[in-house]
Amino acid sequence: MFDLRHARVHGLAPMTATPLRPIHYLGNKSRHLRPIVSTVLGLAAPGTSVIDLFAGTGVVSRELAKARQVTSVDVQAYSATLAQALCSPRKYDARERTQIVERARNWLDALPSEVSALLDYESMVTDGANTEPSLFVLLTEEGSLTRTNATDPALSSAKADALAALTTAGAVITSYYGGVYFSYRQALEIDALMAAIGHSHATPAEATAVAALLGVASDTVSTVGSHFAQPTRLRARTGEPKVSSIVKTIRARSASVLVSYELWLRRYAALDPTKFACSTVTSDFRAVLGTIGDDVGAIYADPPYTRDHYSRFYHVLETIAVGDDPGVTTAPGSDQASRGLYRLSRHQSPFSIRSQVASAFNVLFESAGQRAIPLVLSYSPQGSGTRARPETRLMTIDRIAAAARARFSEVYVVPIDTSVHSRFNRTDLHGETPDDAEVLIVARP
Ligand SMILES: C[S@@+](CC[C@H](N)C(=O)[O-])C[C@H]1O[C@@H](n2cnc3c(N)ncnc32)[C@H](O)[C@@H]1O
Repeated sequence: MFDLRHARVHGLAPMTATPLRPIHYLGNKSRHLRPIVSTVLGLAAPGTSVIDLFAGTGVVSRELAKARQVTSVDVQAYSATLAQALCSPRKYDARERTQIVERARNWLDALPSEVSALLDYESMVTDGANTEPSLFVLLTEEGSLTRTNATDPALSSAKADALAALTTAGAVITSYYGGVYFSYRQALEIDALMAAIGHSHATPAEATAVAALLGVASDTVSTVGSHFAQPTRLRARTGEPKVSSIVKTIRARSASVLVSYELWLRRYAALDPTKFACSTVTSDFRAVLGTIGDDVGAIYADPPYTRDHYSRFYHVLETIAVGDDPGVTTAPGSDQASRGLYRLSRHQSPFSIRSQVASAFNVLFESAGQRAIPLVLSYSPQGSGTRARPETRLMTIDRIAAAARARFSEVYVVPIDTSVHSRFNRTDLHGETPDDAEVLIVARP
């Protein structure tokens, strides 16, 4: 193992191939896999397993599983689906892929005619957006079938016509998110694929089939950053429609989900399975820390670092992964669905709550320290800070390192050079050393 005390993690051989990024995800570590994996494996004794405690997209779990048995943990269910698919991808051949898409098309063809009212309405306001953009904007604001107060009576009536048929068909994605995060056509195609792969809460489908659908949903959603914190605002502050955003949204909504799904299945088919399996756990990290076995040689921890809850940003992916009917939250002081259409039950992470973050770190350090398990912690730099809220990180690196030192005998803060270099280039004119480099905090018992 290299000497961590003087290490900057750099100069390592590049990864052999560009890793698959299964979804667009804030804080994913695709760009830093090599240094993270080398550090974790350098600390874990030969023959031991490792834990990826906040696995997110599962990209780190996959790299670790090339060398060790991995337990991939996250409180969000989509993470387990992605990690299983990345570590043990099912290779759907061309015939199987065509069959799934055929089944989805048959499901769409079998929908009662009442549903076409929605699609006809959508085509009409999309085609007419040039001359009457406000109707298209209203569709993105009020399109969810859970909202009963649409401004345009024609939209209200199309929704009312389709509601019973969609409920009977179990079209949860269309009913909740159609018109808002996706076009109705795209949402129906996602529902059709869920039916085609037999995915529901009661009968979960094979992980690769669901992971491919998560990839599609993440690529298809027409929001900045491809997340689901809230739909794109298509109005200026004055309330006027924003033409450039409308054009972008219409373009994103023309993409075919069925075509994209086949592509995602092919991407997974091209992945080699990892040498070791990833076992996945959907749970709060504290529950897992309470049950760690003697075979664990190191923990990699990449907890959230801002006030933004992942459960708010990726709730639609959670609904697809779980296959349930989650209900939606209402807007404050109203009986109408919230703008973001969040799931009724949503995880609140202590790492994203200022009054809880310090004790969350303490639990982490105490549990790993007591069991004498080395810990490698990523705590990302500012990320998407704004001028009004420049420091989005809830704890400073110094505070975290001090908390770790109370439980471990050696603690090093190791910058990951790729990130430092890219940021240096942007700040060296000011003669400042950037304090927002991507770092690893390495704690040894
Ligand atoms: C920074 S992301 C991890 C990114 C991941 N390393 C990757 O490369 O994709 C943090 C993750 O922590 C998860 N998380 C938040 N609170 C948690 C908790 N209490 N227990 C387990 N996981 C949690 C979130 O769902 C999110 O996926």
